Amino acid sequence: MTDTIKPAERPGNPRFSSGPCAKRPGWSTNQLKNAYLGRSHRSKDGKALLKRAIDQTKDILKIPSDYRVAIVPASDTGAVEMALWSLLGARGVDVLAWESFGSGWASDIKNQLKLDDVRLLQAEYGELPDLDAVDFNNDVVFTWNGTTSGVRVANGDWIAEDRQGLTICDATSAVFAQELDWHKLDVTTFSWQKVLGGEGAHGMLILSPRAVERLETYVPPWPLPKIFRLTKNGKLIEAIFTGATINTPSMLCVEDYLDTLAWAQEIGGLDALISRANKNAAVVSDWVERTPWIDFLCEQPEIRSNTSLCLKIVDARVEALSLEDQRAFAKRLAQLLDGEGAAFDIDGYRDAPPGLRLWAGSTIEEKNLHALMPWLDWAFSNTVATL
Ligand SMILES: Cc1ncc(COP(=O)(O)O)c(C=O)c1O
Repeated sequence: MTDTIKPAERPGNPRFSSGPCAKRPGWSTNQLKNAYLGRSHRSKDGKALLKRAIDQTKDILKIPSDYRVAIVPASDTGAVEMALWSLLGARGVDVLAWESFGSGWASDIKNQLKLDDVRLLQAEYGELPDLDAVDFNNDVVFTWNGTTSGVRVANGDWIAEDRQGLTICDATSAVFAQELDWHKLDVTTFSWQKVLGGEGAHGMLILSPRAVERLETYVPPWPLPKIFRLTKNGKLIEAIFTGATINTPSMLCVEDYLDTLAWAQEIGGLDALISRANKNAAVVSDWVERTPWIDFLCEQPEIRSNTSLCLKIVDARVEALSLEDQRAFAKRLAQLLDGEGAAFDIDGYRDAPPGLRLWAGSTIEEKNLHALMPWLDWAFSNTVATL
């Protein structure tokens, strides 16, 4: 038994998953009632809806007008793989990895594309690799916000203006919640299911003019499946970037994405979205500050995520356990909250150090994080009492 009193109030929405992330406040299936269903996505109206999704994305994210934006298959993973397989091999590659997803891209580049001239710049969970060591004569592959460690780059200042290589950035858990430096990014990817709480399966691919130039002047030595092909006879297939998708998208998901974009615009656009995530993250960091049993995996506030908040349990009784038992402890704590309906999906990522992960992105409501904090204390003291 524990002397921590069970909180009286549960978060109004207990969904704190890091993907798919919580739907926007006020969302309901009613939002989808006008979805363009049972109609061809290649009809005039179908294509117009897809183009609207592209145009509004560009508008809200303040993407430069000479950049191209496409809706592509297979979520963020599809968008990243499409970029890696279409563009790499022309130069050496620097891959930055500081958590699971960056490591996954590095592994694909080395073991699947089998490129030789690859440098892996790596850091432990909670840290960033040495950004000054990046060689911008190479193509540079990195993740803006490491979702599984809660570490992000603070800005794009470390990226050379006069780079020869391309920057390829997986920004799926950053976009719509953090300021991206578009002029430093040649390829950027994200998926609908993250910061705006959209649905899975659809990815976004954003290309700078330099990325397009590479596509039109370089042919990789390996075969490219249709699902990855962005050029025809050495020219960019421009239609993909105005809504003529490579294959069939879900128009139900498109409707949902358009709904989230309308919400984003209504609340004040990108600045409002970023501010929401910052305020949410502040609720958790205030609690961490006053709570002895918990800490951030990322010790430096400048590079700490405001979306995927990764936490470690630093109580001596827990730290004395084996790594496996620490993982089991975090899981039990998360399950206790799940059973109470106070928080869903907050166990740390399977490859990350044991701990908890709370999503604080733009669709999360600050009041729900406030309500969650006492539940975390309650769950910790109940779980530790079982040791
Ligand atoms: C940084 C990062 N990259 C890639 C992915 C994979 O995204 P998806 O499942 O949308 O392809 C995720 C998902 O959590 C992620 O956080």
